[in-house]
Amino acid sequence: LEIEEEQLSQECKKLILNLPREKGWRTPYLYLYQGFWCQPTEILAISTFQKHFQAKDTDVLIATVPKSGTTWLKALTFATLKRNYYSPASGNHPLLESNPHNLVPFFEYTLYSTKENVPDLSDLSEPRIFGTHVPFASLPNSIVKDTKTKIVYICRNPFDTFVSSWFFTNKIKPASSPELPIEEAFDLYCKGVVGYGPFWDHMLGYWKESIERPNKVLFLKYEDLKEDVNLQLKRVAMFLDCPFTLEEENCGVVESIVKLCSFENMKELEVNKKGTFGRNFENKFLFRKGEIGDWVNYFTPSMVEKLTKVMEEKFCGSGLSF
Ligand code: A3P
Repeated sequence: LEIEEEQLSQECKKLILNLPREKGWRTPYLYLYQGFWCQPTEILAISTFQKHFQAKDTDVLIATVPKSGTTWLKALTFATLKRNYYSPASGNHPLLESNPHNLVPFFEYTLYSTKENVPDLSDLSEPRIFGTHVPFASLPNSIVKDTKTKIVYICRNPFDTFVSSWFFTNKIKPASSPELPIEEAFDLYCKGVVGYGPFWDHMLGYWKESIERPNKVLFLKYEDLKEDVNLQLKRVAMFLDCPFTLEEENCGVVESIVKLCSFENMKELEVNKKGTFGRNFENKFLFRKGEIGDWVNYFTPSMVEKLTKVMEEKFCGSGLSF
C-alpha cells in the first residue's frame, strides 16, 4: 500500500503534503482536502477543475453523493434535456450505446483527470451537462455565483448508501488487495471518512443552498425517485426550464424517458454488461440491486443504533431527514 502512495506524481504529493489523513477504503489513505475526504489523484483533478473550469449560463450540473443514484439521474437528465435531438423512444438513442457517465462526464474523473492540458469544453453542444461529487462549498464561483448554471443534486438514505458503497468498493478493488471488512468500512463511514464525506456535510451543504436558492439547486432523494419517478422527472424538467408540454405528456414522452433510464433496461444493455469506465471499473458494477432498504440484510442492531445516532446528531434542526 505504501508503494502505491509513493507512485503519485510530484504535483500530487505536493498537494497532499500537509493534509490530515485517515485509512482509505480502497487507497492507502484518504486526505482531508477543503473539509472533505478524498483520494490523492482526485484532489489533483479537483484543484485543476476549480482553477480552470469556465461555466456557462446554460450549463447543468448533476451533483451527487457517491452511490446514491448518480448514474440514474445523469441518464434521466440527459434524456430530458436532449429530447429534441434524440427521441427517447427511438431505437438509436445515445443511452442505448453509451453509459450515462460517458454522456455526462465527471469533472474529477474524466474532464480534469489527466495531466495533459486543461480541456477545451467550449465546443460541447449546449446545454452542457456535467457531473461531480464535489461538495457545494468547493464548487468554483464560476458555477455558484457568476453564471446561472443549474445544479440538480441527489442523495440517498445513508443506510443504503453505505451498503452500496461497501459493495462497490470491494467489487472494483484490484484482485491483489484484500477485501475491506464491513465493520471497518462502517466505522470509517460513521466518522465521516468516506469519499467526499462526511456524508452529512455533503448533504447539508446542498440542502441549505436548495432552500436559500431554490432556482439554483434542486435537491432530490433516491427514495423519492423510486417512489414516483414520473413526478420527480417532471420536477427536474420544470426546474431546468424545459417543462414537458401537455402534448408531450399526452404522447407518453415522460414514460419513454423513465423506461429508457430504468434499472431493468439499463442493466441489460450490452454497453453496461460488457463496457468499462476507462480503466477504473466495469460498468456492470454500477447496477447492483437498485432497491430501497437492502441495508436490513447487512446491518447488525448495534450498527443501526450507531448510524441512527450519528444521523440524529448531524441532521438535527436542519429539516433534512430520511
Ligand atoms: P445499489 O448498490 O443499492 O443497488 P451511483 O449511480 O451513484 O453509483 O449509485 C449506484 C446505485 O444506484 C446502486 O444501488 C445501483 O444499483 C443503483 N442504480 C443504478 N442505476 C439505476 C437505475 N437506472 N435506477 C435505479 N437505481 C439505479
